[in-house]
Amino acid sequence: MQPQKKRDSWGSRLGIIMAVAGSAVGLGNFLRFPAKAASNGGGAFMIPYFVALFLLGIPLMWIEWTLGRFGGGFEHGTAPGIFHSIWQKNRFIKYFGVIGIFGPLIIFIYYVYIESWTLAYSFFALIGKCRALPDQAAMQSFLRGFQGLEVNQYFHGIHLAYLFFVITFILNIWVIYYGIKGGIERLCKRAMPLLFIFGLILLIRVVTLGTPDPDKPTWNILNGFGFLWNADFSALTSAKVWLEAAGQIFFTLSVGIGVILTYASYLSKGDDVVLSGLTASSTNELAEVILGSSIIIPAAFVFFGPIDIQSIAKSGVFNLGFVTMPLILNKLPWPVILSFIWFFLLFLAGLTSSVSLAQPAVAFLEDEFDITRKKAVVIFGVVVFILCQPVIFFLKNGVVDELDFWGGTFFLVLFATIETLLFAWVFGMEKAWDEIHKGADMQVPQVYKFIIKYITPLFLFFILGMWLWQEWLPIIFMKRVLPLDRVYILGTRIGLVLVFLILAALVKIAWGKKKIQKVRLG
Ligand code: PFF
Repeated sequence: MQPQKKRDSWGSRLGIIMAVAGSAVGLGNFLRFPAKAASNGGGAFMIPYFVALFLLGIPLMWIEWTLGRFGGGFEHGTAPGIFHSIWQKNRFIKYFGVIGIFGPLIIFIYYVYIESWTLAYSFFALIGKCRALPDQAAMQSFLRGFQGLEVNQYFHGIHLAYLFFVITFILNIWVIYYGIKGGIERLCKRAMPLLFIFGLILLIRVVTLGTPDPDKPTWNILNGFGFLWNADFSALTSAKVWLEAAGQIFFTLSVGIGVILTYASYLSKGDDVVLSGLTASSTNELAEVILGSSIIIPAAFVFFGPIDIQSIAKSGVFNLGFVTMPLILNKLPWPVILSFIWFFLLFLAGLTSSVSLAQPAVAFLEDEFDITRKKAVVIFGVVVFILCQPVIFFLKNGVVDELDFWGGTFFLVLFATIETLLFAWVFGMEKAWDEIHKGADMQVPQVYKFIIKYITPLFLFFILGMWLWQEWLPIIFMKRVLPLDRVYILGTRIGLVLVFLILAALVKIAWGKKKIQKVRLG
């Protein structure tokens, strides 16, 4: 018999909290959140946002930490094995678990490319490459040239973007190559404090902007915050606003996708999950609600005024981060340093998230095929590098949006529904409650027994139902896709189905091997 390979583990409790917070605090906090809040009712958005946090986000955080630690006890770090350990009698449940590897992989493919832009722009900030760009139009065409969407005076091709992509990709691979403790934990313990310091510097800079142009006294920072937070309660009657808020909670907390399951599988049986999970979530909320909301939108209001901010706020995540923000920073004293701080903050936030997206696939190969981490990382690196190519070269055809819809939105909710039902109804709420509290440093409020069993699944059904009702047909028939792009979107969908089927086949092979081993040993 082969000696049992020892699974990796976290070095300290602070280490895993930092790593989970690192996964959660990402581009979503600084770019996606302010854009969503500003275009979905401002202050009123915070009502569905907090409802979703307490009824979906926090319960799912506890569910995933608990299931992950439970699965780790059986040497399983990904959803197929964890789901199978909970419901051994069901032959099919492990295939639902495939989503827990597939989802992170799909997000990783586009997330890492966007992350590489933040590294490139950090470099541009240092060498002053965008210093002289005077307005939105110039900054926009700089971005489009960089992304290879057009040939212009700034860029003649995608070479530079590709170079930064390769550097970022290698950095990610390098971190996961060194494993949980030596790679991910080490990175997050250093990057997270730095990220918060950078965020605070920008926050203080924005809050002290005052009224930069005395001729425009209403263009001041207080009105900037007012623009974001003044509540438009009529937004609450729209189902879309509730869906957007729930989607943001999933995305920002990194729940409902399998990543936290994998991280928690490296805990030991007696390690606390209740307080640790809550601490990681609170850290993310601090970064999102305080830092994320206080930088871009209020600053943009001060410099562009109450009329232009309307369209800026709705101009999309990339415009806010890569067009509006560098323009604003260029107008302030110390533009080189401030722009670097902004983009490097985004880069650190992105890197600590993308390594968490890579880990489930690597853990799956290690745990279920008994291969070494280093080998698993090499296989992952080669396959995923190839999968990233369509994202880079077909960016203009909407491939990123398509991947974000399936990986970063739809499958999140579906997977969250499956794991909640498994936890509360198959594992059983009484057993689940005991499992949550093993080694716990804090008691979960009793009301969460009811919430996890009834409210969270009902809320998830409601979201899935609303989606199917409102979006299903237009999405399936690509109603909102430009006719010229349809073939690319169709290609992306075929690619997604193939990746899913290959992963499902790997699960089948892994379980087949286990059966043979069992017979031999038995
Ligand atoms: N939470 C990350 C962000 O806010 O940018 C994104 C993310 C990371 C989503 C990991 C999902 C995930 F599993």
